[in-house]
Formats: sequence, structure tokens, C-alpha cells
Amino acid sequence: MVAKNLLSGFTFFFLIISAAVQAVHAHGRQCSELLVSGKNPVPDSAITASSTWAVNVDTKHIPQRSRIDLGLDAVGNGGWSANFNDDKQWLQFDLGFSRKITGVITKGRQGYGTDQSRWQYVTAYRLQYGNATDDMSVYSDHDHEPEVFDGNWNPVTPQVQLLDPPINARYIRINPVKWHNHVSMRADLLGCPLTDTNKATIIG
Ligand SMILES: *[C@@H]1O[C@H](CO)[C@@H](O)[C@H](O)[C@H]1NC(C)=O
Repeated sequence: MVAKNLLSGFTFFFLIISAAVQAVHAHGRQCSELLVSGKNPVPDSAITASSTWAVNVDTKHIPQRSRIDLGLDAVGNGGWSANFNDDKQWLQFDLGFSRKITGVITKGRQGYGTDQSRWQYVTAYRLQYGNATDDMSVYSDHDHEPEVFDGNWNPVTPQVQLLDPPINARYIRINPVKWHNHVSMRADLLGCPLTDTNKATIIG
């Protein structure tokens, strides 16, 4: 039963990812590597956050727990949890150098099975980006208002948001603005090097 649910979860994940990749290809783009925890993952030190729940007690909720596919392990459940449930919290990825970022994938905090009353996930978020952490911009829509992206509706289903236009930056912050129970999440970014040979067709 567990194995079957796990399998269908993974199958669903890959369906979602391949749908996103197809959408990216449909626009003439091939810029959809997993930048945080893919083939060339960023180090744990590159994942930081505004605050962490119970950080002086244990490491169960630290930002490094936010890697997209992290599940139950010796430390605990998968997911970063903020210390405060307000709209000032952020989860930051330092990609090491500036990259082209074409999408954001989010999931909720792993755990609590079917007990929906305890599920934790972010239902809406904004994005900040920049090449220096003291000079971050808010990703805005065509009316120059901060764009609010739809997040998750359960802990396990990945939600993919494609960025049009893409972001060129080293640092990305996911800034939750609405949540279910607690500001808790897992996440990754889709993108490619700025020097990608597809660059000419990506900009548009
Ligand atoms: C960050 O640096 C890259 C490379 O110089 C540049 O293309 C990009 O526009 C910069 N991003 C921001 C937000 O300044």
C-alpha cells in the first residue's frame, strides 16, 4: 500500500515535471535543469532562510530540509518550517553565480499522511531575486505589481510555476504570503547557465 502510493506519487511527480519541460520546449526553450537538488546540487550552505522553527531544539526544520524530494529520514520529515507565520519569511537559494531561472517547483512539508488537519504547505508566494542579498528585487507582473504565484494544496504534489520572463540572478528567495497551518515547504528551481547556447531563443 505504502509502496504503491509512493510509486504513484513519483509517477505523478515525473508527469508534472515532464509537462513543465514540454511547456518549456514548446516555447523553444531547453532551460529546465533542477538547479538546487538536481545533477549538480548546491551545497547545504547555499540554502538559508529568514527564520527556523525550534532551531535551538533540533535540526528538523532547518532550510536544508527544503530539498524538493526530501522525505522522512533519521532527522525527521522533509521540509523547512519558518519560526513565524507571517508574510516576511523567505527561503533563499544561492546558485553560486548568476543563472537563468525559468521556473519554481514547490511542495509542502512531508509528513502527517492523510491527516489533513495537520498538513503544512504554502498556498501562495512571491519571488525576490538579485546578484547580492542586500540588493534584491521583487518579481513583478506586467502591471509592475509584485506577482503572487499559486503554491500547493497538499504536502506531496509538486506545483510548477514557469517564469515569463525568466530571471537572471544568483540569489532567489521564495517569500510565502499564504499558507495552510504553517509556513513550511520544499522547493527547487528550473533553469540553465546564462551562457546556455539556447540563450538567443530564450530571451523574448
Ligand atoms: C546578475 O548578473 C548577470 C551577469 O552579469 C546579469 O546578466 C543579470 O542581469 C544580473 N541580475 C540582476 C538582477 O542584476
